[in-house]
Amino acid sequence: MMFTTKCAIQNIRNVAIVGSGLMGSGIAQVSASSGLNVVLSDVKQDSLDKAMKSINKSLTRIAKKQNGSDKEKADYVTLTMSRIKTSTNVSTAVTDADLVIEAAIENIELKRGLFAQIEQSAKKDAILTTNTSSLSLEDIAKGLDDKTRFGGLHFFNPVPVMKLLEVIRSDHTSDETFATLIKYGTAIGKTTVACKDSPGFIVNRLLIPYLFQAIKMYEREDASMTDIDAAMKLGASHPMGPFELADYVGLDTCKFIMDGWAAKYPDNPAFAASPLLDALVAEGKLGRKTKEGFYSYKNTNKQ
Ligand code: 3HC
Repeated sequence: MMFTTKCAIQNIRNVAIVGSGLMGSGIAQVSASSGLNVVLSDVKQDSLDKAMKSINKSLTRIAKKQNGSDKEKADYVTLTMSRIKTSTNVSTAVTDADLVIEAAIENIELKRGLFAQIEQSAKKDAILTTNTSSLSLEDIAKGLDDKTRFGGLHFFNPVPVMKLLEVIRSDHTSDETFATLIKYGTAIGKTTVACKDSPGFIVNRLLIPYLFQAIKMYEREDASMTDIDAAMKLGASHPMGPFELADYVGLDTCKFIMDGWAAKYPDNPAFAASPLLDALVAEGKLGRKTKEGFYSYKNTNKQ
């Protein structure tokens, strides 16, 4: 039965999440449903309101599937929601945090600016982390005074469903910080894997070039999009084919990650661009979020 709060780890009670998009709201949800107090912060109240709505929807979806009375299910949603506070001020949001998870957009300057603010306002022993999917921890942490309390927590979309959490350590991350991050991952019900600060960590380093190989296969006209998707679902037991997954992740995100690696490692053919993907992104066809990418979602409720 799910309506019990899992036991949180001793030194982490309060979590601040900076950025309330898809990832930030998912991280807030799984932290709160594990009994932690959460402050979710973003620059716009609108984004926070939207995030709270989507968390409520996701919790209701999860509660619906569990055993228990309607009241128990409603109480679970209400109790979990009550653990999440929101703030449009990042400095205030992180004041009481034992753990800060930055889930803002993938912009190195923005992240550096945020961490300067966070380090100034957070407790001296708070652990600071980033959910970056492709930027280097070393680059993000450049301006931090204490890099030993800094690490990476890379979640996967949809956060409440995906069981994995990548825990990333830079050359500076202390053993104590790393051990606490692993414990946090276990406490929120994720299976943790460890990786060094390297391009794309484990999953994206393998996944993004795979998605690009599928696009290039289609560009060469070796096979149709739907056949490539069917092949990977039925022949490799993937829940989504590469085109469905690229639309789900966001074509702008796929392009951003690959462009970053291509600039950093220009001689690696695995990181070469795709003209088709570039064209779709230029046209604003970014996948499910814009209702069109490789496929059209105009007649579905899928987001
Ligand atoms: N909240 C709560 N529950 C959710 C949910 C959400 N946001 N989204 C899906 N679910 C639940 C549903 O309730 C359902 O549960 P049930 O089977 O017990 O009834 C289950 O998940 C399956 O959902 P659906 O029936 O709606 O749809 P699918 O069966 O098609 O599954 C999916 C959807 C879970 C997204 C599945 O297609 C999938 O696993 N796809 C691959 C996702 C993936 O690879 N993600 C990683 C992307 S890479 C990444 O995030 C890294 C980044 O850095 C780029």
